[in-house]
Amino acid sequence: MASYQSYDHDVLVIGAGGAGLRAAIEAAASGVSVGLVCKSLLGKAHTVMAEGGMAAAMGNVDDRDNWKVHFTDTLRGGQYLNNWRMAELHAKEAPARARELEAWGAMFDRTKDGRILQRNFGGHRYPRLAHVGDRTGLEMIRTLQDHGIHQGIDVHMEVTIYRLFLSGGRVAGALGYDRQRGEFRLFRAKAIVLATGGIGRAFQITSNSWEYSGDGHALAWEVGAQLQDMEFIQFHPTGMVWPPSVKGILVTEGVRGEGGVLLNSKGERFMFNDIPDNYKNQTADTPEEGWRYTQGDKNARRPPELLTRDHVARCIMREVKAGRGSPHGGVYLDIAWIKEKLPNAAEHIRKKLPSMYHQFKQLADIDITTTPMEIGPTTHYVMGGVRVDGDSQMTKVPGLFAAGEVACGLHGANRLGGNSLSDLLVFGKRAGEYAAKFAQDNASGAVDGGEVDEAIAHALAPLSRKTGENPYRVQQDLQAVMQELVGIVRREEEMVKAHSSLEKLKQRAEKVAVSGGRDYNPGWHTALDLKNLMIVSEAAIVSAIARKESRGGHFRDDHPEKKSEFGTFNHVLVRTTGGGMGLAKASYPEMPAELKQLIEEYK
Ligand code: FUM
Repeated sequence: MASYQSYDHDVLVIGAGGAGLRAAIEAAASGVSVGLVCKSLLGKAHTVMAEGGMAAAMGNVDDRDNWKVHFTDTLRGGQYLNNWRMAELHAKEAPARARELEAWGAMFDRTKDGRILQRNFGGHRYPRLAHVGDRTGLEMIRTLQDHGIHQGIDVHMEVTIYRLFLSGGRVAGALGYDRQRGEFRLFRAKAIVLATGGIGRAFQITSNSWEYSGDGHALAWEVGAQLQDMEFIQFHPTGMVWPPSVKGILVTEGVRGEGGVLLNSKGERFMFNDIPDNYKNQTADTPEEGWRYTQGDKNARRPPELLTRDHVARCIMREVKAGRGSPHGGVYLDIAWIKEKLPNAAEHIRKKLPSMYHQFKQLADIDITTTPMEIGPTTHYVMGGVRVDGDSQMTKVPGLFAAGEVACGLHGANRLGGNSLSDLLVFGKRAGEYAAKFAQDNASGAVDGGEVDEAIAHALAPLSRKTGENPYRVQQDLQAVMQELVGIVRREEEMVKAHSSLEKLKQRAEKVAVSGGRDYNPGWHTALDLKNLMIVSEAAIVSAIARKESRGGHFRDDHPEKKSEFGTFNHVLVRTTGGGMGLAKASYPEMPAELKQLIEEYK
């Protein structure tokens, strides 16, 4: 049996993106000992893919904005399946979190009078996204890292957590392995915060990098926490489509926020053809009005390119399917056209969108100041995740918390762009605070040595098999199934087919074999990630089959309408006898009258 090194922390944070870092900072500030585990190097996180900004109703650009409008925008975007308490806390606390980040050194872009500049984004009524060019997530991570490094946090880099352990029904520890040497590490902790991000690697085309295999979702599920809303997956409308090696890389919504327009191969601005009835009176009728909106004209309505992401992604797919797409299966995103409006357009674009300029120049040899980009939808975010208490972020398992993308509730059926960076800070802070409190109020639980040995034996099994399939093949086949059968547009028979394919893939995953040893062996790491990918894929399929309507990030060709009866509950996954996945319906407590009133007021 392999040996392992042991570590003791009051609070263990798993995942070191924005939510994990913010949770670790907050827990450390409460005086407890904190360990922070990162799957890759500290600072490499999907947080950096939220490029265009962080939503916070500070009203710096339009003083009509306030938390109430942000709250109602978030609920409307989420099609009213949101945890209203989280939406309320988020809207109220996001401005303080943005200012705190600024105080810790974040270099936000500025208004002329020196306040934090805010830009337009889809579904936000007013310019609300505090930003740093198109590198906001990167700046957030840099700032949190710089701040966190002085808080006495123990950082465990390049460690993947493989199993959580309970003691007397509450969380007691976690087993991981370091990715360099393959050595096992046991972390004993009084409280654990999951901040592992999303599930993008279950799909072929994604903005997520290799780390995002649904680890936190699966770890929580295995110890009895519930997953919720897993049918709601966000396909960001604009990812790169060419060259193939970079397919899926994000093209920030900030391009559209700065005036970028979507065109089909005929040069038509197709978004004007399909404005949903409930958005008609909020959407600009003419290109001229849309441009004025992006330039801060308070009387202009927003351009149709800034409708919510689910809608824009479907419109793009429709153009491609109708044969009006670009040569590589996308459509065009044109920011170069603003030279008709601005004399210094090229300089302006390079200043506001520096990463996009370099990304296209270096990866596709395209100068976005002169040439339209080719773009198409990319799997970006999962609204579903671990069900948590809205105030504390604790899951159903005592001592186990979740924050950021791995947690469910704030975004309902569809997340508004920019609401993830503020989510990370607001609920990362809360999770850290409540986890520290839990650790202060509770003694350590004992981790059962037999369970640790069993988990290690299971993790080593792919290395000891003499024959078996290559794990990369199984992963690729899973990604193909999810992309083709559970993607942007879904149908019952396709998802049923995906479900039965998944059963076979699970069996194949149990038998994969990996050559070589534990040192620097990405094949082995892939074999271990498969279990998590299977769990989150099954969760998404089962929930998507059950939701026989279209809402937010879940669109069904065979049930294209929203159905009122489905708007009253969320899908929660529960363990059935034998450990399988069953579905239950759950609702949040009734919304207080004063919040209901706001929805009426800001309709
Ligand atoms: O397009 C973007 O910059 C992404 C932002 C987000 O997902 O919040």
